[in-house]
Amino acid sequence: MVMNPEASGAATFQVSADAYDRHIGRYSADLARALVGTVRPSPGDRAIDVGCGPGGLTAELVRRLGADHVAAVDPSPPFARACAERLPGVDVRVAAAEDLPFADAAMDHAFSQLAVNFMTDAPAGVEEMRRVIRGGGSVAAAVWDYAGEMTLLRAFWDAATTLDPRASDADEGRLMGWCAPDPLRSLWEGAGLEDVRVAPVVVTAAYAGFADLWSGLRGGVGPAGAYVAALEPTSAAALEADLRRRLGVGDDPFRLPARAWVALGRVPL
Ligand SMILES: C[S@@+](CC[C@H](N)C(=O)[O-])C[C@H]1O[C@@H](n2cnc3c(N)ncnc32)[C@H](O)[C@@H]1O
Repeated sequence: MVMNPEASGAATFQVSADAYDRHIGRYSADLARALVGTVRPSPGDRAIDVGCGPGGLTAELVRRLGADHVAAVDPSPPFARACAERLPGVDVRVAAAEDLPFADAAMDHAFSQLAVNFMTDAPAGVEEMRRVIRGGGSVAAAVWDYAGEMTLLRAFWDAATTLDPRASDADEGRLMGWCAPDPLRSLWEGAGLEDVRVAPVVVTAAYAGFADLWSGLRGGVGPAGAYVAALEPTSAAALEADLRRRLGVGDDPFRLPARAWVALGRVPL
């Protein structure tokens, strides 16, 4: 399956890193710990983060391997810039998964967190991830369970679609091709990876209150943020109220759980 970047929302990441941090970036560090923990790279290994954003996963790789053993790419210039500023010493480049600017077998592990569904051509992107990894190395990615237990985005699109059925055209649970175990397994095996496993991971994000959550959605980030940004004020207010009611949260601090699927495969020797 080849995603159209406009349909998948890749263009909605040409935003500031701060805006990203207030929205999905809240989940990045916990998810990165889980994703990298699945692979358990050894000291001395080299790793690449594909679709690095402002660097949530890159930071976890730096913590484990050291900046000089980590590369990162993202097609969004503001995100690549933020990643480079936050993590000095990392080889950060503006590039897409489908055309990685690295030699064959240049590294030991490729990671991609929450980016596979935004690739213009995910099969080509995963094949590129395999190409730059040596035989015996690994290719791993995490994607949200958009149609199921990614609480924030599921509640958001359910609220939006109830208020305006046309919102289902933008519902990530419908739009994203790679957010369930079987398609992910096919994607990994189709890229020539072996011993493929897909498993769930649940992480949580902290919010100071509903206003904190809504301010993240108002930043225009990702498909949900872009949807809010395009609404008239009265429609946005109705969506805000419905989302708050669905989540059952108020002005006190709370945490929301989010399930991701982690796909992992080994590069043949
Ligand atoms: C939800 S963000 C995830 C960012 C970061 N990995 C994280 O976990 O916080 C999705 C990222 O995919 C990037 N992206 C979009 N199209 C891409 C492509 N073709 N190849 C690689 N990354 C892409 C976006 O620019 C954005 O940074």
